[in-house]
Amino acid sequence: MMDWESLRDTALHCTACKLCQGRHHVVFGVGNPKAEIMFIGEGPGQHEDEQGEPFVGRSGQLMDKMLHYIDLDRSRNIYIANIVKCRPPQNRDPEQEEIAACMGYLRNQVALIRPKIIVCVGRIAAMTLIQPDYKVTRQHGEWIQKNGVWMMGTFHPAALLRNPYNTKNGFADFLSLREKIQELGIEI
Ligand code: URA
Repeated sequence: MMDWESLRDTALHCTACKLCQGRHHVVFGVGNPKAEIMFIGEGPGQHEDEQGEPFVGRSGQLMDKMLHYIDLDRSRNIYIANIVKCRPPQNRDPEQEEIAACMGYLRNQVALIRPKIIVCVGRIAAMTLIQPDYKVTRQHGEWIQKNGVWMMGTFHPAALLRNPYNTKNGFADFLSLREKIQELGIEI
C-alpha cells in the first residue's frame, strides 16, 4: 500500500475523470491522519475548490460548530475527506463514473487511517458508503458496523442551512456520536 504522502501526491495530480478539467485545487482532506474518527462528505464546493480544504464555506462553519459541540476539532482529533476530491461543476451531484474514478483514494485513506468510526455527511456519502438506497431523513443517526468500522449517516450541513427544521436532529446525531466515542473508549 502507498504511504500517506505518496497517496496525497498522486491525488493532487489526478486526471482520472473529467472533474480535473475545471478544478483549482484537488481537495484531498484535512485533519489528523492518526485520528480514530473520520467524516466523509460529498465533494468540494466553490470555496473548497478555491482553498483546497474541505468544508470551508458556510456549511463548513456550521459543521465546525457541530463538531465543537462534542469536543471534536478538524485540526486535532478527526480527519475529514470527501467522496470526490474535485468540484463538480455548479455543485451538481458527482456522477457514478466520477465516484468510481475517485474511490481508490478514499479507500486508501481509510486503509491508512484505520478509523473506528466513519460519519457519512449527507446523502451521497451515505448512499456510497452505507447502502445505495440510504434515506437520510429516515436513517440518520442509525449505527451500523461494516468491516469492523462503526458507521452513521447524518444531515449535510448545507441541507440544514436550507432547511433548519432538521437542525435539532442533526445535533442529536452528533450527541449519539459522542456516546459512541465514549462507548468504544476512543481517546479524543
Ligand atoms: N460539502 C461537502 O460535501 N464537502 C465539502 O468539502 C464541502 C461542502
